[in-house]
Amino acid sequence: MTLSPADLAKYAAAAGALDLVEPGMKLGLGTGSTAEWLVRLVARHPAARALLCVPTSRRTAELARALGLRVEDLDRAGALDLVIDGTDEVDPAFDLIKGGGGAHLHEKIVAASAARMVVIADASKRVAQLGAFALPVEVIAFGAAGTLGRIARALAPLGLGASAIALRGGGAFRTDEGNLVADIACGAIPDARALAAALAAVPGVVEHGLFLGMCDTVVIGAPDGAFTREGRDGARFAARADPARAADLLAAG
Ligand code: A5P
Repeated sequence: MTLSPADLAKYAAAAGALDLVEPGMKLGLGTGSTAEWLVRLVARHPAARALLCVPTSRRTAELARALGLRVEDLDRAGALDLVIDGTDEVDPAFDLIKGGGGAHLHEKIVAASAARMVVIADASKRVAQLGAFALPVEVIAFGAAGTLGRIARALAPLGLGASAIALRGGGAFRTDEGNLVADIACGAIPDARALAAALAAVPGVVEHGLFLGMCDTVVIGAPDGAFTREGRDGARFAARADPARAADLLAAG
């Protein structure tokens, strides 16, 4: 099986987070193509049977169950030790844009329930300033046209007034909660905290994809298996995962 350089970089990032997983942990599992590598690796981890896993989406839950992991819902699990998730963008302050897969509502609730959030990504996700990736905002379907108008008006004072706002899939996309996702092409976001506050104040908005001050550790993977793990506290660890193992993992199911 031939894997693309992007796949191998995502695998390396996931492998770089694996030694943070310890027996007995309550572990949040993220959503997306990078998080799926993590789920596959966790399922092969020596401590796999001694973990309680809380997925952030139906898609992740299905994969985790299929691979034999013990899956529990968040309320039953309670406080989590760790969540490991992908991202669409990560800036130098470890602030994130997430929601490219439409799972950011559950992802944010799970991250808020975890003592530590680790983000895994290939280098393309690293940005100097958030905003090149259109910001996903989950909105209630009821009155969605009015909600989009209120979002546009809330953006204007922030200098983001010209932003294009589009319902994902033309309104056909639904989240696990049955809501819509509006993608806002902000361009560079000069003040993510002001934008987060403005969006949170709009009736009809359920959750936006800005994860500010939530991520503690970032693991960046490269196609040759190399990864670097950086903590918010400045700690840095670099090593290399065996890229040949990626194809074996996929072949295993
Ligand atoms: C899911 O809604 C997202 O937050 C994902 O974590 C994010 O889009 C990263 O996905 P990939 O790992 O597939 O790029």
